[in-house]
Amino acid sequence: MKNIVLIGFMGTGKTSTGKVLAQRLGKAFIDMDSRIEEEYGQTIPQMFETKGEAYFRQCEKEMVKKVAGRANAVISTGGGTIKDAENVALLKQSGLLVCLTAQPEVILERTERKGERPVLDGADAGDRLSAIESLLAEREQFYRQADFAIDTTELSPLQVVERIIHTLKSRGELHG
Ligand code: S3P
Repeated sequence: MKNIVLIGFMGTGKTSTGKVLAQRLGKAFIDMDSRIEEEYGQTIPQMFETKGEAYFRQCEKEMVKKVAGRANAVISTGGGTIKDAENVALLKQSGLLVCLTAQPEVILERTERKGERPVLDGADAGDRLSAIESLLAEREQFYRQADFAIDTTELSPLQVVERIIHTLKSRGELHG
């Protein structure tokens, strides 16, 4: 029973889609960022502020090792998890990688609030859309490592789930 691992940029719906997908497939749901916050007793913005991004990435790597050891789960990663090649290798071994994408303008709408996404806040020098576009360009190569991608721009989480299930069936990864 393979895991289904949702990867993709901030604001593409990994968490909201992951919850519904897990329910639909009768799998456990694991949100990596929430697990990190629980385990280290700090929110992610607090971790970035008090200990820095490198520390967060170390914690994230530890969390990948843990969740990749699980089976039959839907795992929502953080937007930057797949920048690390070892993380990608472990997650790929554990299951299928599904990338969620969205147009930059929609990502902007979904991530407008400051104080929640330190990487985006840090890159935002006044033009948040440009910050999103350049981070997307930088990360595209990593997101391309997914088994398949779904564009969520015009879809609700429920519709994204339907598309994922449809694709899994057509690839012979899901029966019934
Ligand atoms: C990050 C994305 C965040 C979180 C952290 C770093 C990134 O997760 O892991 O703030 O580097 O893109 P979401 O993609 O769930 O916002």
